[in-house]
Amino acid sequence: MTDDLAVLDLPRPDQSQADYKRALSCFATGVTVVTTRWEGADWGMTCNSFASVSLEPRLVLWSIRRAASSLDAFTRSGRFSVSVLSTNQQGLARQFATGDMASRFIGVEVNRQKNQCLRLSDAVAFFDCELHELVPAGDHLILIGHVSDFGWQDKSVLGFCQSAFGQFMPLPA
Ligand SMILES: Cc1cc2nc3c(=O)[nH]c(=O)nc-3n(C[C@H](O)[C@H](O)[C@H](O)COP(=O)(O)O)c2cc1C
Repeated sequence: MTDDLAVLDLPRPDQSQADYKRALSCFATGVTVVTTRWEGADWGMTCNSFASVSLEPRLVLWSIRRAASSLDAFTRSGRFSVSVLSTNQQGLARQFATGDMASRFIGVEVNRQKNQCLRLSDAVAFFDCELHELVPAGDHLILIGHVSDFGWQDKSVLGFCQSAFGQFMPLPA
């Protein structure tokens, strides 16, 4: 059958979790830092699960691991901001994925947004959101945000694919 032949064209890994992650990593994404303000403190983490959901109303989503230390902050604050990173912010992508929360913002140029969350000043684009809906999904929670403000500037976009950071290169038309 045609379906079987299509599958046989590709190498068949052993279906392990490592193979599964490797297959998923072939999908190239941008890189964002999502932030929130909760109980008088700023929280931020690197995130590449960001996506647009709806244009009218303006809804976006991202997913957070249930085990993340900032889970309560993001799910209870009712708001978040998304900064889409530029190629010169690769270091920040690493900084916001590791270490304790207080040290993540050290030395980072930020702006306080109307929704009280921090935006990384050098980001290519930002989306300020109010939490619209929380959807449980396995070992993650999906946060759907209603966009209250957004903007962008002319900078090159940081990419992430097959566990490496990179840069988008348009093909010749
Ligand atoms: C490129 C990249 C993308 C990531 N995307 C996500 C994501 O979408 N959701 C998530 O929960 N963690 C993601 N992470 C991992 C978190 O940034 C990391 O676990 C962070 O330490 C979570 O912070 P916390 O545990 O202190 O809350 C990503 C990490 C990297 C390097």
